[in-house]
Amino acid sequence: MTRAYISGTGFYVPEKVVTNDDLATLMDTSDEWIRERTGIQSRRFVEDGVGTTDLAVPAAEQALKAAALTVKDIDLIIFATSTPDYMAPGSGCLLQDRMGFPEIGALDVRVQCSGFVYGLSIADQYIRTGTFRHVLLVGAEVQSTGMDLSDAGRDVSVIFGDGAGAVVVSATEEDRGVLSTHLHSEGKYARELWSEVPASGRNPRISSKDVEEGRHWLKMNGREVFIHAVTRFPECIMEAIAANNLQVEDVDLIIPHQANLRITMEVARRLKVPLELVYSNIDRYGNTTAASIPIAIAESVNEGRIQKGNHVVLVAFGSGFAWASAMIKW
Ligand code: UT7
Repeated sequence: MTRAYISGTGFYVPEKVVTNDDLATLMDTSDEWIRERTGIQSRRFVEDGVGTTDLAVPAAEQALKAAALTVKDIDLIIFATSTPDYMAPGSGCLLQDRMGFPEIGALDVRVQCSGFVYGLSIADQYIRTGTFRHVLLVGAEVQSTGMDLSDAGRDVSVIFGDGAGAVVVSATEEDRGVLSTHLHSEGKYARELWSEVPASGRNPRISSKDVEEGRHWLKMNGREVFIHAVTRFPECIMEAIAANNLQVEDVDLIIPHQANLRITMEVARRLKVPLELVYSNIDRYGNTTAASIPIAIAESVNEGRIQKGNHVVLVAFGSGFAWASAMIKW
């Protein structure tokens, strides 16, 4: 039986470190508020002119190197992002060109915070069916250029950061790899975490009036998102555990989308597992949307937190609302 396993990982974050105190010089906030409410101490922001694909390139190069593969070995690029370089074409095509891949398929996945897990489910299907042997899966975001860094946007802009993570998903005949994936959405909450413009239903898609009114900034009803997140994360983790006839005790590491440390703590509490079982790096990078899980995977591998044979659960929740999980036997 052919399964899909993660054969290489990589990540890249921009050099510019933005501390909570830095943000407090731009808006009415404080290091204390941000730490207490989110667990974030700093995040990375790009310099002007750096786009999502620029961050994806070094992450993807590392993942290929770790998998001992070259661009010629990859059969498909899947690029998960909520902040593509352009509305058209997708960032996957830009990555194909930048890294000199052969003329393989390049597919963007627009499922925001859950984009990486959705992308993994797609890669898994292509590999299980024998269509492809190696898929490059990237999660990359430049959130900082879409943040209102004034007082009006402080509830959103203190959370998000920029970064990229990548994995190579490869075929194996061994008893390991992605055991199951579980995808969900509930679009009635679409406007609880969204950017209103540019919008295809407006002509022009974005006007100077829209910009004056701040409709282009990411907006979030934080409390509503929080309430749903703390329910959906544990539910979706349990779905992955039950689907594989496992118990919570069989799980070696949970890698959640890095939304907020308080959400991670609540997930651990509801599952009755020690906080150490739930990976967290939000203190250093903030919430990097589709990039947060692949960055956390790469760091976990580098830190030796994941060993061959471990059961690892990936889980995400975010804008859509969309949420998803995956059970991997490493
Ligand atoms: O990745 C996608 C998923 N996203 C998430 O999972 C985010 C989920 N939501 C959250 O993480 C939290 O709701 C936030 C961190 C966004 C906000 O935390 P909260 O504890 O829910 O705060 P709140 O929105 O209830 O606001 C509490 C107070 C308000 O003041 P009043 O009305 O009590 O006087 C806000 O105006 O905190 C104020 N506030 C701030 N104060 C200082 C909001 N943002 C800030 C800020 N600095 N940056």
